[in-house]
Amino acid sequence: MTAETLDQAFVLSSYGRNSTSFVEGKGAKLYDESGKAYIDFASGIGVSSVGHGHPVLTEAICNQAKALIHTSNLQVIAPQAALAERIVTLSGYDMRCFFGNSGAEANEAAIKIARKYGETRFTQKRYKVITLEHSFHGRTITTVKATGQGSFHSPHFSPYPDGFLYVGQIDAVYDAIDEETVAVMIELVQGEGGVQPFEKAAIQQLARTLKEKGILLIVDEVQTGVYRTGTFLASNLYEIEPDVITLAKGLAGGVPIGVAMTSLKDIFEPGDHGSTFGGNFLSTRAGLAVLEVLEQEWASGALTARIAQFGGYLAALQKRHSDLFSAQVGLGMMLGLRAVSSEVQQHVLSAAFEAGVIVLKAGRNTVRFLPPLTITKEEIDEGFKRFEKAITAL
Ligand SMILES: Cc1ncc(COP(=O)(O)O)c(C=O)c1O
Repeated sequence: MTAETLDQAFVLSSYGRNSTSFVEGKGAKLYDESGKAYIDFASGIGVSSVGHGHPVLTEAICNQAKALIHTSNLQVIAPQAALAERIVTLSGYDMRCFFGNSGAEANEAAIKIARKYGETRFTQKRYKVITLEHSFHGRTITTVKATGQGSFHSPHFSPYPDGFLYVGQIDAVYDAIDEETVAVMIELVQGEGGVQPFEKAAIQQLARTLKEKGILLIVDEVQTGVYRTGTFLASNLYEIEPDVITLAKGLAGGVPIGVAMTSLKDIFEPGDHGSTFGGNFLSTRAGLAVLEVLEQEWASGALTARIAQFGGYLAALQKRHSDLFSAQVGLGMMLGLRAVSSEVQQHVLSAAFEAGVIVLKAGRNTVRFLPPLTITKEEIDEGFKRFEKAITAL
């Protein structure tokens, strides 16, 4: 049986999959079973931050696998401690980390931190978390409820937990705050919602107001974090000091990992939270290798140069094809083209894939680009050559 027939017979159909099966990757190239090469402008939805088969990452994973993959969180895990130190130091914030295995788990931890803060720091318990429309925070029952998109709140999965409310824009947060509000949770660039960055001044004002009121600011950097927007964290770019930040996706280059980091350094006591796999030897060693590579890419200016090249291509492309795309959106290497309709978005995605370049959808009408942060100039040139050819033929 082929991989496709096995998939259809034995895997639950929760994804709208196409039938392609990749067998190998190198840099920003992926190869399918027939040997066809694709330029990867998607990084497995922002995960393969150092591309495929990066020697520093693969060697670190192989060596760690030979030495020790997993013990438990009941003993000290040296690479976990080292990764926490790297993350905190690179962030520039005075924080401590909790490790899980995914973005949703990182956000679950963030919500638990907020709930405990709301229970212990106020005379009357606070528990409500305000999030934004078009946000995306995960697929667990709680994080899907935190997600401000009604289409995700299917009655199939109800009842959902209480305590989440949504506002349409940053300015509307102020009126939504009441005496039970404990936190505001936002992405600085909404990824799944359409690659939409928020205005810096509005975010800084929000951060100031929340600080004055003792309400936590949780920044979901699952997609924006780990150099995706051009610096280690988007929070650094926005020059704010969140109380809680969550990371996942690109942090370990494809090995599952999630982090909730917080300035509430003593919020958890033993027993408050946990994860069997979270922060094990393999994932945290992979995280250290990824940070070693990306720190260097950033410090040398190579990442900034790549962002300029990629963004330049997109801007020119949008101008040449304004019949298809009304605007270029995004920040750093988290970019998008706003298609004039959802039909055009769909056609572009299929044509690009056919032409051997992988791009993603976001929201109703955005074509999203999340290339590996280590992508080469030649790979960018080749990817855009294919992309342009695909859309010109539409
Ligand atoms: C901003 C944001 N938060 C949370 C998540 C959920 O992460 P995961 O799929 O690893 O649970 C995602 C995934 O796309 C995301 O983009």
